[in-house]
Amino acid sequence: MTAKILNGKTIAAQLRQTIKQQIQINTEQGIRPPGLAGILVGDNPASQIYVRNKHKACTEVGILSKTFDLPATTSQDELLNLLDKLNKDTEIDGILVQLPLPTQIDSNLVIERIAPTKDVDGFHPYNIGRLVLRMPLLRSCTPKGIMTMLEQTGIDLVGLDAVIIGQSNIVGRPMALELLAARCTITVCHSKTKNLKSKVQNADIVVVAIGQAKFVAGDWIKEGAIIIDVGMNRLEDGKLVGDVEFETAVKKASWITPVPGGVGPMTIASLLENTLLAFQKNF
Ligand code: GUN
Repeated sequence: MTAKILNGKTIAAQLRQTIKQQIQINTEQGIRPPGLAGILVGDNPASQIYVRNKHKACTEVGILSKTFDLPATTSQDELLNLLDKLNKDTEIDGILVQLPLPTQIDSNLVIERIAPTKDVDGFHPYNIGRLVLRMPLLRSCTPKGIMTMLEQTGIDLVGLDAVIIGQSNIVGRPMALELLAARCTITVCHSKTKNLKSKVQNADIVVVAIGQAKFVAGDWIKEGAIIIDVGMNRLEDGKLVGDVEFETAVKKASWITPVPGGVGPMTIASLLENTLLAFQKNF
């Protein structure tokens, strides 16, 4: 079997087009655009690129995007004060604090300070709790983008065995909740998991978010499985690859996401969707 490619780039472009049109219609009726505040603390190069890409994507669809570029020495109180201000700002519907944060700042405290109605990353305990209870509102962007891609395959997910590799608050955990809500049987694997290979061998869906090139070998994969690769690893030769050995996996899977051009663009498109949704709820 040769897998079909789940082209996140194309799906994300369609989503952005729909969002742009919606904002244009609003503008013609004199309604203000949605507003997103993106906060970057410090000079982590990957974070700088992510925040820049998010800002660019917002501007292209007509979302008012304000970026706050704060020094690495910013104190926790300074950041919390900024959040208090943005929570009250009537032009701002979404607030995003790029993670990771410098060590003097407690990220859990920061996430909890964002008004749940403006939490477009979907990281606040309120929004995670809503997902747990199957009444989602603002959903974490990467898992939400993956669910949108899975919908595009037209495959009925009910009853499928899903293995998620990675247990982070940003991807693994909300991903498990999304797939559980879609009525999959879920297994969440992490660094202490025993017999990982055999778990992958039995999976109908594998979501890998571990951050290690070729972590999942192609010959582990069950014939016809759906493979979602969240990894983004830079090899010594400069090539960007995921966590799955693509060349061999593509011969076994039914669907597979490429890296780049798979999950990445969907994360940003989901952020735009969340910002529009927060705007509609707040307006
Ligand atoms: N760091 C890595 N991924 C993300 C994300 O989706 N949102 C934020 N805020 N920080 C991140």
